[in-house]
Amino acid sequence: MRELRVAKSAGFCFGVSRSVKMAEEMLAAEANCYSLGELIHNDDVVQHLRSEGLTVADGPEQIPQGASVIIRSHGVSRAEFEAVQRTGATVYDATCPKVKRIHEIVAEASADGRQPVIIGAADHPEVRAICGWCTSPIVVNDASQLAARIADGTIDCAKPLTVVIQTTQTQEKLLECQKIIKKECTNAKLFDTICGATFTRQTEAAQMARNCDAMVVVGGSHSANSRHLYEICCSACANVQFIENAAQLDTSAFVHADTVGLTAGASVPAWIIKEVKQKMSDEILT
Ligand code: F3S
Repeated sequence: MRELRVAKSAGFCFGVSRSVKMAEEMLAAEANCYSLGELIHNDDVVQHLRSEGLTVADGPEQIPQGASVIIRSHGVSRAEFEAVQRTGATVYDATCPKVKRIHEIVAEASADGRQPVIIGAADHPEVRAICGWCTSPIVVNDASQLAARIADGTIDCAKPLTVVIQTTQTQEKLLECQKIIKKECTNAKLFDTICGATFTRQTEAAQMARNCDAMVVVGGSHSANSRHLYEICCSACANVQFIENAAQLDTSAFVHADTVGLTAGASVPAWIIKEVKQKMSDEILT
């Protein structure tokens, strides 16, 4: 390898960085600290926070009276938020403001009698939380599922619809869904709630993958935005590795590559990127 290119947008986004900072502030100030679910999709960071005293609770019922609780950047449902408050906990709400905005949009839609439609992965914590701020939401994974729900009548296009999209989804998916909605639905409001940080990261990764012989994508295996990055890179480059940390990197795959690009998902801290970069420089940079 002659050149290693590191994406400027690799690593922590604003929302994740804010949540980790808030967790550190909470751990410094409080004694009995909990997070509702793992704070971010990165095992190394979660392990580090555990070692500093953070306990991961699976639900509000596991939080003792009077503890301090951090809500992660993906957010939680209204019911969970209120259940945490009922424990008397000091709440550090690290829900990303961009996710919070989606909660407000869908809550307002329900209050106005509109049907909320969410484009995203139904089992992702962000989407599950969004569902918990509105009434009878319909989740569709992509344009073909959207078309199928319209065809089978689950989505009634004659009714007013409010459509939002999970922050880490792609612009392509949004455009495909938008086409169908414009064609089929008479009263739909569609909000582009894709996060700008995600779009920038994806655009840079696509461009890099087109111009590199090989790519490394660092990200948590449960992280949706990291998986999307990997898919984007695979569509433009034949030699792509998806790893969680430097230990998983197989540099032997890059011995014949002249240029290798490196990018990372929103939940990857700078120190992991630095370790991967170092290993690549040490083992394959000639
Ligand atoms: Fe927020 Fe965007 Fe990050 S929605 S958590 S800043 S990827």
